[in-house]
Amino acid sequence: MKILITGGAGYIGSHIGIELLNNGYDIIIIDNYCNSDRNVIRIMQQIAGKSFLSYDCDLRDKHQMEMVFRENAISAVIHCAGLKCVPESIANPIPYYQNNIGGTLNLLECMKRYGVYKIVFSSSATVYGLNNPVPYKEEMLLSATNPYGWTKIMIEQILKDFTTAEKDMKAAILRYFNPIGAHPSGLIGEKPEGIPNNLMPYLCQAAAGKLPSIKICGTDYRTADGTGVRDYIHVCDLVKGHVKALEKLDFLTGTEIYNLGTGKGSSVLKLITTFETVNGIKLKREISKRRPGDIDESYADVSKADKELGWKTELSLEDMCRDSWNYIKKNYAVSTE
Ligand SMILES: NC(=O)c1ccc[n+]([C@@H]2O[C@H](COP(=O)([O-])OP(=O)(O)OC[C@H]3O[C@@H](n4cnc5c(N)ncnc54)[C@H](O)[C@@H]3O)[C@@H](O)[C@H]2O)c1
Repeated sequence: MKILITGGAGYIGSHIGIELLNNGYDIIIIDNYCNSDRNVIRIMQQIAGKSFLSYDCDLRDKHQMEMVFRENAISAVIHCAGLKCVPESIANPIPYYQNNIGGTLNLLECMKRYGVYKIVFSSSATVYGLNNPVPYKEEMLLSATNPYGWTKIMIEQILKDFTTAEKDMKAAILRYFNPIGAHPSGLIGEKPEGIPNNLMPYLCQAAAGKLPSIKICGTDYRTADGTGVRDYIHVCDLVKGHVKALEKLDFLTGTEIYNLGTGKGSSVLKLITTFETVNGIKLKREISKRRPGDIDESYADVSKADKELGWKTELSLEDMCRDSWNYIKKNYAVSTE
């Protein structure tokens, strides 16, 4: 079975690719490398000990996309490609809608034309918005606080409409909570570039001496220690959920949605102290104001994925902190001055 991974050179797509190869699937990757490096492809082949085709292709390019589908007998698509930086999406929304929505529409048109009926989509817990109580359940009402989040809600709706209209089409929407960690080889992981928007890249940059301190944004949240609580999930657990979802698609009709999280929340302080303990690093801390739009707590109800996909997480917060730092240490010059 040949699986097309869009955005397959990115942080999550590259880990999905290795997991699929390890499970006996063939893969093809499409990426325009706007947020990834070409050498990730070679590294993935090295880790898995298998080769595969990759296309330097933008999802919005109809001719190139047509060529990929014409040249390959694709059984299913895992759709990870997209822009994902929340502040950037607020500052400059049009490219976010053009890329995330436009790219998805083009992909779905190709799938229909070439009779590819199965898609797994990378959505996000951000679609639960500000007003739902935790733990978040798949059937809750959705809302977003930024253009990035709206693109996820819109693509989810497009997939529901598409699978309703096209009876053979099936979609699994996976709502990721907070993926962190890296492949245990330390050869692939999340690129530590720009001003990080999420806590783990921030921790890694501070630990690598690229940022002077770690900023704790808000200590007055309604949580046990006053800092925000999130559901961190190891990327290696997350990608196993994709293999399960892919298998499940054979037995589904229409669109199904699954939360992928651990079901447990950890506070900002807990993540920082775990990172420090596991890696033997002490970070300078700085308290700053809350960021607009940040909520007290976000964690998943994972009972649907457990029951219907037979999937649950296995790796700990310690594993996540160790593997994230291992990747940065191995691949980026680290100065701990
Ligand atoms: N990482 C997270 O914390 C997180 C959380 C929730 C959801 N997601 C979603 O998961 C998906 C993957 O996230 P990631 O962290 O691996 O991001 P990433 O930026 O590392 O990977 C995305 C990949 O898509 C590629 N890409 C973007 N637009 C493209 C286009 N038009 N054509 C071809 N390739 C294109 C990029 O070059 C990159 O390699 C995204 O859709 C993201 O929104 C990520």
